Amino acid sequence: MALLEVRDLELAIAAGGRLLPVVRGISFAVEENETLGIVGESGCGKSLTALAIMGLLEDTAIRITGGSIRFEGRELLTMAPAERRSLMGNRMAIVFQEPMTSLNPVYRVGDQIVEVLRQHRQLSASEARERAVRLLQMVRVPEPEQRVDSYPHQLSGGQRQRVMIAMAIACDPRLLIADEPTTALDVTVQKEILELLQDLQKRMGSAIVLISHDLGVIAETCDRVAVMYRGTIVEEATGEELFANVAHPYTRGLLASIPSADRDVEWLEAIPGRVPAIDQEIPGCAFHPRCAFARDPCHSRDPEARSFAPGHLLRCHFPQEWRK
Ligand SMILES: Nc1ncnc2c1ncn2[C@@H]1O[C@H](COP(=O)(O)OP(=O)(O)OP(=O)(O)O)[C@@H](O)[C@H]1O
Ligand SMILES: [Mg+2]
Repeated sequence: MALLEVRDLELAIAAGGRLLPVVRGISFAVEENETLGIVGESGCGKSLTALAIMGLLEDTAIRITGGSIRFEGRELLTMAPAERRSLMGNRMAIVFQEPMTSLNPVYRVGDQIVEVLRQHRQLSASEARERAVRLLQMVRVPEPEQRVDSYPHQLSGGQRQRVMIAMAIACDPRLLIADEPTTALDVTVQKEILELLQDLQKRMGSAIVLISHDLGVIAETCDRVAVMYRGTIVEEATGEELFANVAHPYTRGLLASIPSADRDVEWLEAIPGRVPAIDQEIPGCAFHPRCAFARDPCHSRDPEARSFAPGHLLRCHFPQEWRK
């Protein structure tokens, strides 16, 4: 049994009396000790998927219209709200992209970590503070005994992101979702944060879902990769298999837009056009208007998910056309 199992998850946005689908039946599973990367351009539904798993869509315009999310074998979508909340920040946690908006500017970072700890653990004030210092040390914030009393604005962007990670791992979560955890940071700091996540995973044995629009970031860090386009997973495989045997033209495009990627075949520098608006209906394969290889039946029939190679899932009528 996988730690997290998402089956046929469907999300829609309630707008003007209509429900516009944004996540269109995605399935994936993550095991302990495993890192799953979810990659795709802006607006394809990555963050909404993360928020659905975390139970953070209440009081938003987003509706869960189908599917199932099982965590440690239990269905989350029908779980009592109080029980669901007790998992969040405890058995499962999330790190967001923007540490400045997620950290409270008026509280010392140590107090914010202590608050998470005391929500889920019975610790005295001094025990919680001690653990906060230890957590800052774990995420490699320099001089943690001093920094624990800093306010967010006194820290660098990279240090704030480390504080966010410290808060997320405070209660040893089994599942950690990192939603674009490095996009706001410069390249060197990005690398350090990713190494930190990998290091923490080795120690904690937890499952990580790493979300990024950058396949380069995903490639370096993840065991398995799910490529999302317009609310569907169009390709999924282990990192090794995917990079050796990329099959979907969209994935190929993402790969070609990594500056350092090995480019044996160049049919595009990046993917032409943009992700269509969510209220736009596209018959057939949702990628066909941007695909250089689209032909009948791409315009009329949406490709089903099928096995392209062992452990390699694909939704495309004409895989690897650029090789021909
Ligand atoms: N609260 C909301 N209300 C209405 N629409 C929303 C809301 N949140 C997201 N959306 C829309 O849902 C779609 C999917 O959004 P989501 O945030 O999941 O994309 P994403 O893949 O995380 O993109 P990015 O790479 O930009 O973070 C987008 O078109 C977005 O505009
Ligand atoms: Mg997002």
